[in-house]
Amino acid sequence: LTAAALFAIGALGAPAAIAACDDGEIVIKFSHVTNADRHPKGLAASLLAERVNTEMNGKACMEVFPNSTLYNDDKVLEALLNGDVQLAAPSLSKFEKFTKKFRLFDLPFMFEDIKAVNRFQQSEDGQKLKASMRRKGLLGLAFWHNGMKQMSASKPLLLPTDAAGLKFRVQQSDVLVAQMEAIGGNPQKMAFSEVYGALQQGVVDGQENTWSNIWGQKFFEVQDGITETNHGIIDYLVVTSTDWWDGLDADVRDQLATIMAEVTEARNSQSYEVNQAAKKSIVENGGVVRQLSPEQRAAWVAAMKPVWAKFEGDVGADLIAAAQSANA
Ligand code: LMR
Repeated sequence: LTAAALFAIGALGAPAAIAACDDGEIVIKFSHVTNADRHPKGLAASLLAERVNTEMNGKACMEVFPNSTLYNDDKVLEALLNGDVQLAAPSLSKFEKFTKKFRLFDLPFMFEDIKAVNRFQQSEDGQKLKASMRRKGLLGLAFWHNGMKQMSASKPLLLPTDAAGLKFRVQQSDVLVAQMEAIGGNPQKMAFSEVYGALQQGVVDGQENTWSNIWGQKFFEVQDGITETNHGIIDYLVVTSTDWWDGLDADVRDQLATIMAEVTEARNSQSYEVNQAAKKSIVENGGVVRQLSPEQRAAWVAAMKPVWAKFEGDVGADLIAAAQSANA
């Protein structure tokens, strides 16, 4: 294989699926920020591209740009609206400029696990959220799962008071800012691609993320340890531009929608396992994972849950109740 061919199959860790697009094919650029392998989103994006490039050959071709190689999540929604990319899958925390309803997903301890998130998303209320930004030019095609968030820092975190005075990186989300303030931390919004360096250099002391992101970005190398808090979620909306989507021929759009639905089902059912494997790799590679006693966990709930009241007006009490009813 030539170097170019190795790149194309992702063997060199470069963009996973730079398919050579033929003349006349609709080019679908998919930009995201995580690693391509051993990551729920990376694997789903790769499978999507593989299927589009095989089954829609001659009609469409997909190129995936992982690892913030094209855009970070703070820029990609603008790029979608400008037609510079056609697909993205930012976490639900990154839609603040477009909708306040998604704040629901950032409220700490809202969902017991990803199965509950899935149940809520499949409900009528959840499905409605996919199209809620249509007027602003964005259309959600599918929810993709990552997993539950854990807390890490430059010192052991067993009680929320351990976080007092620490600087925490958060995604672009006012809910997450409020959550970190509720435990006495100093939150700082920052792009995903900058977190490792910021932790390493002490620009921030800690962060929250899923096992697959902590593994994929190697955050555990530059943290004292990770506390298994499962206090929130990272989940994604695969999003496109309404104009672009509406402009596709119906047969192309239908085929793409079918492939999307099948890939979503196949990969979402594996997201838990992918995260558990990442957790195992973290431990095997010297990362420290700490468990909470039921009393310690209760203290995190008590400290963080008051944040809900602040955002109830944005989200709506009805939607919060609907999400709660999805917990088993
Ligand atoms: C983050 O910024 O921490 C995550 O949203 C990254 C991702 O896409 O999982």
